[in-house]
Amino acid sequence: MAIDNSHKKYAERYKIHQYWSRKPWYIVRNYIEKYSDINDVILDPFVGGGVTAFEAIALERNVIAYDINPVSILLTKVICEKDIDLWSFNQFFLKFMQKIPDNVRDLYKTKCRNCHKEISFVNTIWDSNQITSLYISCNNCGFKGNVQSTEEDRAKLKEIEKIKIENWYPNNCDLPKNSDVDYVHELYTKRNLIVLSEIYRLICDIDEENPFKNLLLLMFISTSTRTIKSIFVNHHRLSNNLNPAGVWGEKRFWVPKQFVENNVIYYFNERYEKIIKAKNETSALLNNKRTNCTLDVSPAQDLNEIKSNSVDYVFTDPPYAGAVKYLDLSTVWNCWLNAKPMKDYEIILSEDKNLDSYINQIGISLKEMFRTLKNGKHLSICFHFSNLQIWNEILQLLNSLGYEFDNVEIFEPMKKSHNQYTQEGGVETDVIITLKKVSSKNIQKQREIKLSDIVFSMIASMKIPGVSLKTAQFYDKIVVDMTKIILSENYRVVVDIKDLNSLSVFLEGLGIQRKIEYEMEYTGKTREIIKWDINNVKCVQHP
Ligand SMILES: C[S@@+](CC[C@H](N)C(=O)[O-])C[C@H]1O[C@@H](n2cnc3c(N)ncnc32)[C@H](O)[C@@H]1O
Ligand SMILES: [Zn+2]
Repeated sequence: MAIDNSHKKYAERYKIHQYWSRKPWYIVRNYIEKYSDINDVILDPFVGGGVTAFEAIALERNVIAYDINPVSILLTKVICEKDIDLWSFNQFFLKFMQKIPDNVRDLYKTKCRNCHKEISFVNTIWDSNQITSLYISCNNCGFKGNVQSTEEDRAKLKEIEKIKIENWYPNNCDLPKNSDVDYVHELYTKRNLIVLSEIYRLICDIDEENPFKNLLLLMFISTSTRTIKSIFVNHHRLSNNLNPAGVWGEKRFWVPKQFVENNVIYYFNERYEKIIKAKNETSALLNNKRTNCTLDVSPAQDLNEIKSNSVDYVFTDPPYAGAVKYLDLSTVWNCWLNAKPMKDYEIILSEDKNLDSYINQIGISLKEMFRTLKNGKHLSICFHFSNLQIWNEILQLLNSLGYEFDNVEIFEPMKKSHNQYTQEGGVETDVIITLKKVSSKNIQKQREIKLSDIVFSMIASMKIPGVSLKTAQFYDKIVVDMTKIILSENYRVVVDIKDLNSLSVFLEGLGIQRKIEYEMEYTGKTREIIKWDINNVKCVQHP
């Protein structure tokens, strides 16, 4: 059964910066509690959004966390930072904001359409290279809403075009090939580029030793993708006279014809509120916790810095083939950080890296994790693939290393991806496999089994009246059974059902009836889903 965590909420600490496929913190926490003790050493060489690192130190474990993505390490540092004096940070932040020159602030000035005082707009909508409307929120008279741009607003843009940007900004930094423009700077309006480069200069001027520098840097990095042209117009909000800014939700850098130019200063201030909430929360959770947190931008294939047999527990979540292109998607952040990620080491399925290379690199990292783990201690690894061939290869690899099977569980991700919602048969859940390192594994000769046989006996054991399952639910069950059969019973599986499509064909071949049901999408629309009525299996023999 999947672990039910529907009652759990997002924690403030994971709202300070967007990161893909963050694991639900309460699940990571449960695993750390179950498989390790206070003062133990926990390792996660694919730390991503920082969840393992923070939950481990909050539970008084020591942690070693790596990622090849520089922004992931900055983010994890900020989440895990202890002893931040928030009162002093507030004073520091106020002074910092005062340093933004008036001529820079003026770039967002407009007149309140109600009281006619000069105010800063929140954002403005661009359509075919012209601004059409502005969203304003007046502190003076309380007026809020979308208003037409004026001649004066448009004239300001002409003046802005003449400004020469003196500060550093990522100039001519390549974006990934699937982007709508070639370079990072082309994702910004001239106005936003001027303001971002000014704030960035002010942050760079802060002393390296200053404890608040990383907080401001992370706030800046988050602002840097809230102020690109990929922010689409949310027409539903616009028609209700609300702030029309959408989010950068696509997994690529696109530039729609109509986009929202968010005010950099306004959104930078907004990040401040988020960081204060998060650090209030983490201060309470880390109070008096004195364990160590070692973080580094480093590849999981090379854990040389960690001694063999020294780690008490590994909790990790490697990239799932090519599902998310972490480094590509972090291009804007890493360019502003002026950091060059080690792209060659990225474990990914891409144009230049095929499936063999992906499996080979995952294999090297799994061997490294095995080496660093103490005998008798556990590794928990999260996976989620829509291809059973990849599952099979990874499971065989784990089986060959010298682990004993402990447990496999499926759980709902915090936030379903777009595909998980909209594709019939999108894989719905994540899987966590836990294994124990043993000093000598009894290697018996492997027996062979066809995947279709596993599925067939699974169905036979589920023939209960009224049971019907979605294709993806079948898929999850197959993965769990396949994991147990390979890792616990030492079978070699012949994959004759490759993915969700071939699974549907196989189920149909067995004479299992399809039922159409309706499900609500996250957009509020209903859509058809296919369910398989197991009770109606016509043939009793494997065809
Ligand atoms: C699935 S995410 C981890 C998400 C994380 N569990 C969380 O809860 O936020 C995988 C991470 O692996 C990183 N990565 C990819 N190749 C890597 C490598 N060779 N070494 C270390 N990290 C790598 C990516 O940058 C990404 O942050
Ligand atoms: Zn007003």
